[in-house]
Amino acid sequence: TAAGRVNVVLLGATGNLAEKYLWQGLYNIHEAGLKTGDEMFVYAAATKDASKSSPILQRILANNITASSPESKAAFLARVSSYVQLRSEEQYAALGERMLEDMRASGETEAGRLLYLSVPPKFFGPIADNINKHLRPQGKNAWLRVIVEKPFGVDTSSAESLAASLYESLDKDEILLVDHYMGKSGLHGIRDFVKANSLPDFVGKNRRVSRVEIGMLETEDCKGRTGFYEEVGVLRDTMQNHLMMMLALLGMDADTSVAGAAEADARKLVFEQLSAASLDRVARIAQYASYHDHVNEDRAKWDEPLLEERSMTPTYAHVVLKLQGANDVLDNVPIHFKSGKALSTRRAYTELHFDDGEVLIFNLQGPAGASGAKGALVAASSALPSFQAPSDWEVKDIEGFGRVAMAPDGPFAYEVLLRAGLEGVREHFVRLDEVLESWRVWTPLLEEIEAGKVAHRLEAYKHGAEIFASDSKDEKEIPRDEL
Ligand code: BG6
Repeated sequence: TAAGRVNVVLLGATGNLAEKYLWQGLYNIHEAGLKTGDEMFVYAAATKDASKSSPILQRILANNITASSPESKAAFLARVSSYVQLRSEEQYAALGERMLEDMRASGETEAGRLLYLSVPPKFFGPIADNINKHLRPQGKNAWLRVIVEKPFGVDTSSAESLAASLYESLDKDEILLVDHYMGKSGLHGIRDFVKANSLPDFVGKNRRVSRVEIGMLETEDCKGRTGFYEEVGVLRDTMQNHLMMMLALLGMDADTSVAGAAEADARKLVFEQLSAASLDRVARIAQYASYHDHVNEDRAKWDEPLLEERSMTPTYAHVVLKLQGANDVLDNVPIHFKSGKALSTRRAYTELHFDDGEVLIFNLQGPAGASGAKGALVAASSALPSFQAPSDWEVKDIEGFGRVAMAPDGPFAYEVLLRAGLEGVREHFVRLDEVLESWRVWTPLLEEIEAGKVAHRLEAYKHGAEIFASDSKDEKEIPRDEL
């Protein structure tokens, strides 16, 4: 078919995620072009009224896109609509009309429509209904794809009903679930490593894995996005999805041949092997000290009533679980999940700690732990066997540490996923059944927190704290047979 026009509707166009990544990703794709040859047009939408949101959109477009030249930026902006408010059904209908008129005016035919829902999960159902009624593409070959940001629901039952409500309006194939870690080369690096080196062989007979640590530490706090964060907290924001993906690619069957269905099955199987989270398995749970003030500053900004009681939303957690029925290397080994905001370091990693003190590090972001090698993706201390890396990685030995490997640089995760959505590459998205299996793990703990049982355990920590340091005396020891 001849190339046509792809209409992107970005819902949440003035939000934090759009500001940080989505607009830049769209610009980069515009600049490099789509493989399909289609031309892209973007409708910038959100729920608030134009008087509040339009200036924010203008600021983001002016300041948050790094372009190769002023001309190229102008060419991109010419393909972005003015602000569209999408709250009432009439507004969805009006946007549908406007899109048709725009296409009539330009003489282009529609190849397809991508709707990116960068909004809290409670809005997904009603939005899907409005999309179905008013925003389906015209023309019988035109496709519709709806990208849904994580978290998908807030627990098992809400995720199930969310899926049911989406399926009322959209076909299964039209829905793409995002976990942006799936767009990171580092995450695939874990899988490539596990495939290239059989984990049991690498570990060998004389060494055991004594613990796995999966971490996502951030220096940024929640200021400016507490409206979102209040509903998710650290467990739903990063553990239920990103940290689980890091575990899945480490633990999955290395024989899984290619991406796609088989890999999603293999990831899901790892989740099935994981024990369920509960307060008993929480080593530490905390909130950074100025979080409450940030919530109220944000509320004041949006003219919302202030919070009087202390919020119970955790911004840091350390939870210890284990896999049962996994391969010999990982079976019954304590798996430490650590993640939080407003910490001293920004780093995303998976580490295998061995009983002789050696460590194998997968580094998705930030300095590579002990090796100190920036950009290293896999780092192994020198006592460990030398490992195979995929042929396009750069491998070198660092004196005093060991061997490190770097994967080639690629586009950033959100650009990868936006492109996958626009070009219809489904393997970059997660499957509903794996998401549900992950909720099975996290829901019991979330329920305990919601029932207020966390109150006496929720610590306060200072901005820039090192609360994640594993030798901390404040950490609760969890006996291995209770994991
Ligand atoms: C998002 C979370 O999914 O991931 C954010 O909602 C977090 O709270 C972000 O900051 C971190 O992503 P990255 O790619 O910077 O590790």
